Amino acid sequence: MSSYTLLGPFKQIVTMENLPLKGPIENSELKIQENGGILIKNETIVEVGPYDEYVDAQIENHTPLDGEYVALPGFIDCHTHICFAGNRFLDFEDRNSGVSYLDISKRGGGIWSTVENTRKATEEDLLLGMIGRLETLKQNGITTVEVKSGYGLSVKDEMKMLNVIKKANSRHQLDIIPTCLAAHIVPREFPNEKSYLDYLISELVPNIKRDDLCTRFDIFIEESAFTRDNSKSYLNYLKQNGFDITIHGDQFHTGGSLLAIECGAVSVDHLETSGNKEISALAKSDVVAVGLPGASIGIGCDFLPARKLLDEGVSLAIASDWNPGSAPQGNLLAQASILATYEKLSAAEVFAGITYRAAGALKIKDRGRIASKYAADIVAFQCHDYRQILYHQGELKASYVWKNGEML
Ligand code: NIG
Ligand code: FE
Repeated sequence: MSSYTLLGPFKQIVTMENLPLKGPIENSELKIQENGGILIKNETIVEVGPYDEYVDAQIENHTPLDGEYVALPGFIDCHTHICFAGNRFLDFEDRNSGVSYLDISKRGGGIWSTVENTRKATEEDLLLGMIGRLETLKQNGITTVEVKSGYGLSVKDEMKMLNVIKKANSRHQLDIIPTCLAAHIVPREFPNEKSYLDYLISELVPNIKRDDLCTRFDIFIEESAFTRDNSKSYLNYLKQNGFDITIHGDQFHTGGSLLAIECGAVSVDHLETSGNKEISALAKSDVVAVGLPGASIGIGCDFLPARKLLDEGVSLAIASDWNPGSAPQGNLLAQASILATYEKLSAAEVFAGITYRAAGALKIKDRGRIASKYAADIVAFQCHDYRQILYHQGELKASYVWKNGEML
């Protein structure tokens, strides 16, 4: 059995197996292997079972862990903007003195100021910044992370960002899923939404396709960004060309979630202002709702109606939205834990939101559960009960992280 590797012993292995894609989950539904081991072969999980039985089988590749650990599937942060230059601490101060996020944006600060800094930055600087943030994510147990462009807003600068994201993916052990968010805001060089979106279609999309830089596109549907009506032909064009769509929607005003359903998006992210109409429409669709509590904490606005979304039967993922403006903290576990307290979420619902439901938001099928044939992406925390992890509100860091079976 020399090609097998055994991980363990674990006090608990929270497998996330056989849990539903949509709707509420009680902790009692979790399938937990007590005193377990995880058997791996060729970067993939073979099975989970009692540790002692595997020890008896004398698996060659095995160094027993010393202490008590709880294992979970490696976490998936399915919405971030961690490729950027500069910072926005002055926006933070302004918001704390009462200026709104949208007003900061209207007067030329906000996203635009990060665009100016990111355009000026060298590829090397952007890459270094990203690598540092990837290391921080790893400490919180994240093994897969989505990263958006969207601070370039020209062919040259969006391509620069996507190339940096690609390089970071090859340099760092975490898996990066790139997304093009060229439709973040209308850059100053363009007179209106339509002329900019037409430019993206004719000038940017063919380059992205040629260089195979991403398979997903995002758009910010909001006042001071893009309207539903002007976005439809852009989104339809992308779909016809085989790209997946995700939408920043219902953050300050509703509209984005219904558009996401209409255009068959994979996910709609934010949803702080979603009401009954949006929630019941989402429940009838296959669109994954992605909650971004870090943006509510950063801006000081309500959390999304996470409890209601789950109770109505929506699939809820939770992500950090890590970016220099609305969500500068980047600690997914802290944010998910705080969301759980305010929105009354079970630990099972939170862990589903950052494991297999987050995988659903990225259309990835091979991770998010500790089960046979899944990628051996695993995180272990030093504690004896999985409920201690969220209780520590992000302060309990991962003791071990395995990516495709390899200890990082
Ligand atoms: O998800 N809402 C739009 N985009 C980002 C914020 C980006 C920024 O402020 O730099 C978000 O919150
Ligand atoms: Fe975002």
